[in-house]
Amino acid sequence: MKILVATEKPFATVAVNGIKSIIEKAGHSLVLLEKYTDVNQFYQAVADADALIVRSDKVNADVVAAAKQLKIVVRAGAGYDNLDLAACSAKNIVCMNTPGQNSNAVAELAIGMMVYMARNTFQSGTGSELKGKKLGIHAYGNVGRLVALIGKGFGMDVYAFDPFVKPEAINGDGVTAVSTIEELYSTCHYVSLHIPATEQTKNSIGYNLLSKMPKGGCLVNTARKEVINEAELVKVLAERQDLKYVTDVAASNQAELSEKFGTRTFATPKKMGAETAEANVNAGLAAANQIVQYFATGDTKFQVNK
Ligand code: 3PG
Repeated sequence: MKILVATEKPFATVAVNGIKSIIEKAGHSLVLLEKYTDVNQFYQAVADADALIVRSDKVNADVVAAAKQLKIVVRAGAGYDNLDLAACSAKNIVCMNTPGQNSNAVAELAIGMMVYMARNTFQSGTGSELKGKKLGIHAYGNVGRLVALIGKGFGMDVYAFDPFVKPEAINGDGVTAVSTIEELYSTCHYVSLHIPATEQTKNSIGYNLLSKMPKGGCLVNTARKEVINEAELVKVLAERQDLKYVTDVAASNQAELSEKFGTRTFATPKKMGAETAEANVNAGLAAANQIVQYFATGDTKFQVNK
């Protein structure tokens, strides 16, 4: 089988070597399309691929139409909002993600961003410490839980809201489960976002929640920019001179945010939450193994379009 790895933002070399070895040992062949600048390169490469590994690369209806013999797509990572599940399902293409594999990298970045904002983006002036501050985890999945545990290591008082996780499981980690989203935002100095971008969550974080944050509140977004109501973010940052916003996924209006609010907002130049060699190896090798297993045994454990 031909397995295409199409990554506009490539995996570290050590991960590519690992993926190649897994694929070739199983008798398949690897084709690598890295740093492509034109989507036509993607259409061309996917045309005769049997399997596809991507990162945040968009596998939309056009890519699916170009793929003449594709059987499986694995998003090496957690969020699969870049896959058009309906288009894939219509052609019986199995879609998977690799949950948990890059979580630690994202969690460490979320905490690093809190430190960066607490220390005035490393400009002069007196900063503050994370110790003793209230940290809110919005969605207690793989990344959220790790942020909570690292935050506890910093001496933070940690709260979490997740309607899909039993409160006992959250409380069992020494984290306080809150029953409403409003309570999370009104309690916590730092709120770390870990919700996926879905039709329900898009634009869901806006004025109503952010205006409830305590004095000096900071929203930390290592999730997706689409979950933020950007116009309302501008409104609340203008009204509340004490609030801050730090993000690993630049807002569509990032230039406006920087111009209006200076160092109260910060965005990484390119999404870098999962940009560690370790995360690339974990997610990339998991993706390769899942494809090999699927072809060998039909294993669909991580399928997201069942
Ligand atoms: C994910 O959903 O796994 C992260 O957002 C990582 O995305 P990336 O592979 O594009 O860095």
